[in-house]
Amino acid sequence: MKLTIEVNNNKIYAEPGDTILDALNRHGISVPTLCHMKGFFPTGACRMCVVEVEGRRNLVTACSEPVVNGMKIKTHSSRVIESRKTIVELLLSNHPDDCLYCERNGSCELQKLSEDLHVRERRISGNKNKYKLDVSSPSLVRDPAKCILCGRCVRVCEEVQNVSSIGFVGRGNKTFIDTMFNHGLNLSTCVNCGQCIMVCPTGALKEQPHIAEIKKNLNDPSKVVIVQHAPAISVSLAEELGFKPGQNIVGLMNAALRRIGFDYVFDTSFSADLTIMEEATELIHRVTNGGVLPMITSCCPGWIKYAEEFSHDLLPNLSTCKSPQQMMGAIIKSYFAEIEGIPKENIYSVSIMPCTAKKFEQQREEMTQNGISDVDAVLTTRELARLIRLHGIDVHKLEPELADSPLGTRSSAGKIFGSSGGVMEAAIRSAHYFITGKEMVKFQVKAVRGLEGRKEATVQIGDLEVGVAVVSGLKNAEDLLQEIRNGRKDLHFIEIMACPGGCINGGGQPIGTTEEAVKARMATLYDIDEKDAIKVSHKNPYIIELYDKFLGKPLGHRSHDLLHTHYQKREVY
Ligand code: SF4
Ligand code: SF4
Ligand code: FES
Repeated sequence: MKLTIEVNNNKIYAEPGDTILDALNRHGISVPTLCHMKGFFPTGACRMCVVEVEGRRNLVTACSEPVVNGMKIKTHSSRVIESRKTIVELLLSNHPDDCLYCERNGSCELQKLSEDLHVRERRISGNKNKYKLDVSSPSLVRDPAKCILCGRCVRVCEEVQNVSSIGFVGRGNKTFIDTMFNHGLNLSTCVNCGQCIMVCPTGALKEQPHIAEIKKNLNDPSKVVIVQHAPAISVSLAEELGFKPGQNIVGLMNAALRRIGFDYVFDTSFSADLTIMEEATELIHRVTNGGVLPMITSCCPGWIKYAEEFSHDLLPNLSTCKSPQQMMGAIIKSYFAEIEGIPKENIYSVSIMPCTAKKFEQQREEMTQNGISDVDAVLTTRELARLIRLHGIDVHKLEPELADSPLGTRSSAGKIFGSSGGVMEAAIRSAHYFITGKEMVKFQVKAVRGLEGRKEATVQIGDLEVGVAVVSGLKNAEDLLQEIRNGRKDLHFIEIMACPGGCINGGGQPIGTTEEAVKARMATLYDIDEKDAIKVSHKNPYIIELYDKFLGKPLGHRSHDLLHTHYQKREVY
C-alpha cells in the first residue's frame, strides 16, 4: 500500500520502506547529500540532507529516515537551509583555499554546495588541515587535506571492492582517512581501481597524472609517439566534450589525437581481438588437456592485483594472457617497429584507458621486453579530455578520421570488451569456431550482457557444455571465488572485472558518471556490434595477417614471449 506524505505543503506518495530521500527523489525534489550513495546502507554521517519533520524537535537526515504515513516535511525552510549552510561553512573553514589549482575545479561537490547555498563570507575560521600528499601509488594521488570525511571512498573500497585499503583514523576533529600504518597507498592492499576517485566529492583523490611526461615526448623530435585507445573510451569521452552520454565519437577522437601530435593512432580493440585469439585457444587447451579450470580472465589489472594479494591459491586459474593494453604495447614495439623500421627505443607508447589500474599495470616489471616497457604512459578518459582542451581543439568542428593501419582495425568482438561480459562473449564466439569449425548462428550471448554484478550461463559449443560466469566488482568476484574454493565444479570460464559494469564504469572515466550514462555506453557498444560486419576476432583481417607474418599461431613461441605473462603472490599490509 502506498503511503501519503506532505512535502512543502504538497501531497506526494511514497513506497513502504522508502527513506524520505527516496520519496523526494522520485518526485524530483532535490535535497543536497554528501555521505549518501545510492545502493549503500545510509550512515547519516554528514547531515547535509537534513529536513524538518513536523513533531520532531531535531532536524532529521532524509537519507536515513524511513517515511511514515502522514509525515509532514519541509525540505527548504530557513532553519534547514541555515543548518546545511553551516555544515558547508564548517567544511570550508579547514579546507585548503586552492580551488584554482585543484583537479576538481569545476566538478567539485563542495564548490557546488557552497555556490548553491550562497556561501559568500567566511563566518567560521579554523585551523587548516595539514597532511602530506600521498603520491606513493603508481595510479592514484591522495590529498587528505582536501578530504571532507564523507567516507564514500572507504565504503566503496570495502563494500564494493572488498579491499579496505583505506579507513578512518583518529577521533573527533583529529579524524582523517589513511592507509594501514600510514605507509602510503603503494604498500597498502589498494588494487588501483580508482573507484574511490569516482565517488570522492572533492579533489582529495585523483589519478597519477601522465600528461606532462607525454607532452615532453610529443615535443621530442627523436620520438615516434604512438597512441592506442581502449574500447570503452570512444563511448565515454563524449560527455566530457559536450556530446550526449554514450555517443560513439571514435572518428573525432582519432582526428583530435592527430591534432595533438601523436604520430600513429591505434585501437586497443585490435589487441582485444588478439587477446581473444590467445585466450580462447588457451581455454580450449585447458578444457581438452585437463588443465586448471575454471580459467579466469586476466584483462583487468585491478583484479590481477587483488588475486595476487587475496586469491593466490587461484593464481593457476588465471589466463596467462596479458591485457589488450599490454599486448598492443608489445606488438607496437616488435611487429610494428619491425615493419616500419623504427628502433623500438625511439617509440614512446601511450595508451588511453578508462582505468587507473592500467597506470600500475604499465609499470609492472613483467610488462617489459629486455628492459623496455611495452607501454610508456597511460592517460585516463578524463586526462584525454584535458589534453584535448589544453590544445584548444573543438572536436565538434573536426571531421571523423580512421585509426591507422594495421593495428587500428578491429572486429566488434574486440569493441564489446569495454563492457562487463564483453570478453566472455567475444571468447565464446571464437572458441565456438575453433572447436566446431563453424560460426555461431546468432553471435549474441545475451545471458552475459547487462549491468548485474554476476551473470551465469551454460553455453553449448559442439558437444561441450561450457559453464561460464561474469562478475564485476571485486566483492562479487570474492563471493564467486569462495564458491569455487568450496568445491563448485560446473564453471569452465570466468570473466572478472574490478569495476562494476566493467571498463565503461572504470575509475578513469568522467567524474559524475551516472548509472544512465553507463547504460548508454553499454548500449552503444552492443549497437556497434549489431551493425558491424566483422563480429568475431578470428575474422579480423589484420589479426590473420599478424599471425601469418609474425606470430605464427596462438600460444606459439612468439606469442608466448610477447603476449603472455605470469603472476605471483604479493605480501601486503
Ligand atoms: S583505488 Fe580501489 S582499491 Fe585502491 S583505495 Fe581506491 S577503491 Fe580502494
Ligand atoms: S577522500 Fe574523498 S571520498 Fe574519501 S572521505 Fe575524503 S572527501 Fe570523502
Ligand atoms: S547525505 Fe544524509 S547524512 Fe550525509
